[in-house]
Amino acid sequence: MNVGIDKIGFFTPNYYVDMVDLARARNEDPNKYLIGIGQTNQAVIPPTQDSVTMAANAALQIIDDDNRSKISLIILGTESGVDNSKSGAIYLQNLLSLNKQARAFEIKQACYGATAGIQMAKDFVNLHPDQQALVVGSDVARYGINTPGEVTQGGGAVAMTIAADPQIMSISKNSSVYSDDIMDFWRPINQTNALVDGHYSNDIYQKFFNITIHDYLKENKLQLDDLKAIVFHLPYTKMGLKGLREILPELSDAKQADLLQEFEASRVYNKQVGNLYTGSLYLSLLSLLDNAIDLKVNDKVGIFSYGSGAQGEFYTGTLKSDFKNNLRKQHVESLLKQRKQLNVSQYEELFLRWPKIDAGDFVLDVTNDNAEVVFSGVSGSKRQYKIQR
Ligand code: CAA
Repeated sequence: MNVGIDKIGFFTPNYYVDMVDLARARNEDPNKYLIGIGQTNQAVIPPTQDSVTMAANAALQIIDDDNRSKISLIILGTESGVDNSKSGAIYLQNLLSLNKQARAFEIKQACYGATAGIQMAKDFVNLHPDQQALVVGSDVARYGINTPGEVTQGGGAVAMTIAADPQIMSISKNSSVYSDDIMDFWRPINQTNALVDGHYSNDIYQKFFNITIHDYLKENKLQLDDLKAIVFHLPYTKMGLKGLREILPELSDAKQADLLQEFEASRVYNKQVGNLYTGSLYLSLLSLLDNAIDLKVNDKVGIFSYGSGAQGEFYTGTLKSDFKNNLRKQHVESLLKQRKQLNVSQYEELFLRWPKIDAGDFVLDVTNDNAEVVFSGVSGSKRQYKIQR
C-alpha cells in the first residue's frame, strides 16, 4: 500500500524585511546575505502569531470536512512551543474543529520534529488505512538583533495530511537515521532566542547528510542517479547547496546540472521566507513541486531532514498524480506578494515586542494581523486564540 503526503499547505505572517536592507544596516556586503547565505527576504513574526496560530493558518489551507472525519492523529512538530506542558496540537484540534476521537501531541527535536511526526503518521496510516493524520511543522526562528544568526531568522508553518493512496507523494517504507549528542544549537528553557555554534552546526549537518544518504542508497540498492531531485532542511538556502555539493563529485556533469537545477526550484520559497526550523524542509519540498518544470509522476525525490542536537534522517518520496496544483501555487505566491515590507528599524521594533517568557497577562492589538487565526494575549495565565473570519 502507498502512504504519504496527500495535501500540503503553507503559512507565513504578513511582514518581511529585505536582506539587502539588513546587510547595509549591519555593515555587510549585501552579496554575503544574497549569495553567501542565499536569502533575499526574511519573514518578521508579529507578537500576534506564534507556533500554534501559524500551524492553524497553514492547516486551514488544506483541511476539509472529509479530512475532519478521518483525522485521528494530530502532531505538531515545533521547537518554539507555547507551553511547557500542554501541547500545541490540542489547541490546533480545537481551532480547526477536528475530531475529538484523536491522539494529539507535540514533538520536539529541533528542526527534525515534523519529520518525526511524518514517519510516525506513515506507520499509523499503514496500520489504519481508512484514517488520516495531520502533521504540522511550525516555528518562529529567533537568534537576536545584530547576532551572526540574525540573517538566518524567519518563521512560518507547513501542514500536511498523511493518507493512504496519497495525491502528492508516497513515502518510502525505509529510511536511514543517525543521531548523536551534539551542542550545535539549543535554546535554554528561560530564553526566546536560540544559542548556536553556527559553523559547527554546518559541519555536523554535512556529516549527517553524508552518512544517511549513502547508507540509504546502499541499504535500498539505489544509485544517486535514481534521484530526480534532493530536498534539504534549509535554515538558510546556502546550507542545502553545501550539502548537495558534497555528493556532486560522484555524478556525471549532466546529472550534476540536473540536480542543481532542481535545487534552485526547491529554494524559491525558502529564499523569500527564511528559516522555519521544523517546516523548512517541507517548504523546500513544496517549492520544488510548485517551481520545478520537468518533474514527472513516479519521479523519486531524496529528502534530508536535520535537527540540531542532533538528528539526521534520509528517505525518499515518489511523486503521485496530483503533485502539481496551480491553485496551491497561486495561493503561496499571493501570500508572499501581499506581505508588507518593513525597514530595519520597524523590523527591530517588532522583534523587540515579542512577549517575554515571564510577561504575565497582557492584551495584544490584532487589528493589523490579517490572518484567520491570531493570538490576542494572555488572560489568567491562559493563552487566548481568536478566529477572525
Ligand atoms: N559575496 C558572496 N559570498 C560571501 C560574501 C560576499 N561578499 N561574503 C561572505 N560570503 C560567504 C562566505 O564565503 C560563506 O560561504 P561558505 O559558507 O560557502 O563558506 C558565507 O557567505 C557565510 O559567511 P561566513 O561564514 O563568514 O558568515 P558568518 O560567520 O556570519 O556565519 C552562519 C554564517 C554560520 C550561517 C551564521 O549566520 C549562523 O550562525 N547562523 C545560524 C546557524 C544555522 O542556521 N545553522 C543551521 C543548522 S542549525 C538548524 O538548522 C537549527 C535547528 O535544527 C533548529
